[in-house]
Amino acid sequence: MGGELTIALTIDNRLVRAKEGDTILSAARANDIYVPAICCLTRCSATLACRLCMVDADGKRAYSCNAKVKEGMVVNTDGEDLRADRRAIMEIYAINHPLQCGVCDKSGECELQDNALFQNVSSQNCAIKDSGRKAVTWGKTRYDPALCIVCERCVTVCKDIIGVAALSTTPRGGDALPESYKESLSKDVYAVWNKMNKSLIARSAKGDGCTGCGECAAVCPTGAMIADEFQYKSNAWELRRVPSSCVHCPSACHLIYETKQIGVDNPSETIYRVTNDFHFQSLCGAGRFGYDFANKNAKKDTEAFNRAIAALKQAKSISFGSFISNEEILILNRIKKRLGVKLINPSAYALSRFLKTFSAVSGKTLYGGSKETIGDFTLSIGIRLSNDNPQLRYAINNALVAKKGAAIDFHPIGDSIVDTMHKNMLVLRGEVGGEEIVLAKLLNRFADRLPAKPRAKIAKFIFDEAELERIDKLAENKSEFTIIAGSDLFDHPRSENLARMLGLLEKYSPFKVMLSPRNGNDLGAALFADLDESADGYTIGYNAKGDFVLSAFGAKGKKELDMPSLIQQEGTITSANKRITPIYPALGYDGWTLADLYNAVADGEEIERATDLSAELGAPFDALENEFSASGVERRGFELASSAIESTDAIEPPNPPKIEGAIVYLAHPIDEFNAYLSSGDKLLASEEFLAKFGLKEGKKAKVAIDGANFTLTAQKDKYIQGGFAFVSVYDETLTGWRFKSIERR
Ligand code: SF4
Ligand code: SF4
Ligand code: FES
Repeated sequence: MGGELTIALTIDNRLVRAKEGDTILSAARANDIYVPAICCLTRCSATLACRLCMVDADGKRAYSCNAKVKEGMVVNTDGEDLRADRRAIMEIYAINHPLQCGVCDKSGECELQDNALFQNVSSQNCAIKDSGRKAVTWGKTRYDPALCIVCERCVTVCKDIIGVAALSTTPRGGDALPESYKESLSKDVYAVWNKMNKSLIARSAKGDGCTGCGECAAVCPTGAMIADEFQYKSNAWELRRVPSSCVHCPSACHLIYETKQIGVDNPSETIYRVTNDFHFQSLCGAGRFGYDFANKNAKKDTEAFNRAIAALKQAKSISFGSFISNEEILILNRIKKRLGVKLINPSAYALSRFLKTFSAVSGKTLYGGSKETIGDFTLSIGIRLSNDNPQLRYAINNALVAKKGAAIDFHPIGDSIVDTMHKNMLVLRGEVGGEEIVLAKLLNRFADRLPAKPRAKIAKFIFDEAELERIDKLAENKSEFTIIAGSDLFDHPRSENLARMLGLLEKYSPFKVMLSPRNGNDLGAALFADLDESADGYTIGYNAKGDFVLSAFGAKGKKELDMPSLIQQEGTITSANKRITPIYPALGYDGWTLADLYNAVADGEEIERATDLSAELGAPFDALENEFSASGVERRGFELASSAIESTDAIEPPNPPKIEGAIVYLAHPIDEFNAYLSSGDKLLASEEFLAKFGLKEGKKAKVAIDGANFTLTAQKDKYIQGGFAFVSVYDETLTGWRFKSIERR
């Protein structure tokens, strides 16, 4: 949402500045000038359904959500005609709208209520027969057509952001307006009626691809589309809002936990729902529905604490998962220093090694790309876009639509969402392990400034004529180049050369490279933990396997101690966007913490609050903001600075690895990023793979993966294309390169 404020215009007699390409509405909002508007969604294409945003621009009526600012433009957002039409529109919306606000889930935060009140609609001048409209449930959302004003926000967000296009409009049928009433309406007001009376919302032909993100319900201005689990649970005004950051994947999306006491006889708070500032931030299903991960019944059990201290004192290693705050990582560093233990986190270690090699070639301590740099030309490699980081898929899809962009995905496994996302999304599947060849071809095509020495190493790797023609056509007239490199590359047998090649692309091509970590706070652990490669001897597991386990999942038995879940902690996490963002406790916690353990072994040194350590990351915790500005500027924590370092250009020619036999890929189902969200260990496969391997849906299968035995439940995954399967296990028995060989046992 950056850009120079180069355009000067007048809105309601105020001189304001806006960016080239801004709409009048966004310029007004950025300057705190209120314009009524229902149907528009920032970041999405305009549907012009509600017409409430009408303004007078240079003497002509314009729809401010769609009309762009011009130098010297004079805009009036209010006037007698505008007011009359807006009032009439709200009256139209109220025709046959059920009078059930008392029980409607949206009441108190309903844009229909707000606007009817704002436009002073206190009487209804038209009555017609209602048509029968039945409520339906689609996955996790419930659609009640009787409450629908056909603003099409739900359809638009699914198409323009989520990239699934699972919803569309369908004919409604119903009576026409009485002729005399119709004649009293202006063209704009009648257009609103016409749209509303002609359509309803339905599942589209692509409805089966719905990923259950719930974003359609989040954007609905009325109670027509709601999250099924929230229906009749609470009034909006009773909920306490806790803005925070999602901790499930490395995107760290801004979200708001909404809590309330459990019941009249139970004062403990629980989370009723998660909401988002949907004009600037969309959520996936994990962020929206996967909020029930508090360690609820922990108490300060002194005996268990003493056992944990004894275990810590004899430990040689601490193994930890990336479901961890930056501050906890800093505490682990202190424990390491004091007790001489090793710190183990395989995925963060691989990322840290990869980043160091990348930096040694790019000449910068951090990578240049992020979700914010995703613009009109994006490549993705080594990342399963739908499963690893849906926000990146949303950002690519949104750029395809809103910026008339183009994108290319290089991943060997077919993905039905990505494959059908947009006509300008080119999918080049390629061979498993062939990423070095792809990067060599990209260097040859795009790194014009590449010196002769590294160029000689890759000279023979070029796209074939047909591919080159398609790529060149997509890249034509584009100016914002980003490569997203995923975690397939970090543990790849050729990871070092891959990191070097990406470093050259960042240095000598127009691309900004973004690394997409594998797990939640992998980047924080890679940057701030003093990591070791492998564990030794007696091991403490922190949300990981170990001889003694510190568990935010709930301690079981004498060899475990309760720890707070991230939803019960104050602290920060590091996103893939290189941003330190704050998390706040939505729910209480009564047990021991990592700081307590440190204090017990620290010979009098004491950490009072984990966030006392935040300043070591770059800013004190209490100085961190967590919101979007009215114009969408992300005021959340701070972005880590990158520094220049000395660099080399050394690369090797590609030498891709080979895997024999059937291949599986380590990936979790959509929205099941971690053990909290897991629905069990599984073998997820395309229909083709199930048939070839003689596996039956829902049945246990004994398999050997890279020689180790597993019993997994076979499950068909509608999103996997081709003869592939995913292995989804959460106990870190499978680490390393994500592609593995598999055999039936
Ligand atoms: S369901 Fe909600 S978002 Fe969708 S068209 Fe109806 S009112 Fe608009
Ligand atoms: S839940 Fe998400 S994917 Fe499904 S229809 Fe709604 S917005 Fe689209
Ligand atoms: S907000 Fe512009 S037409 Fe609805």
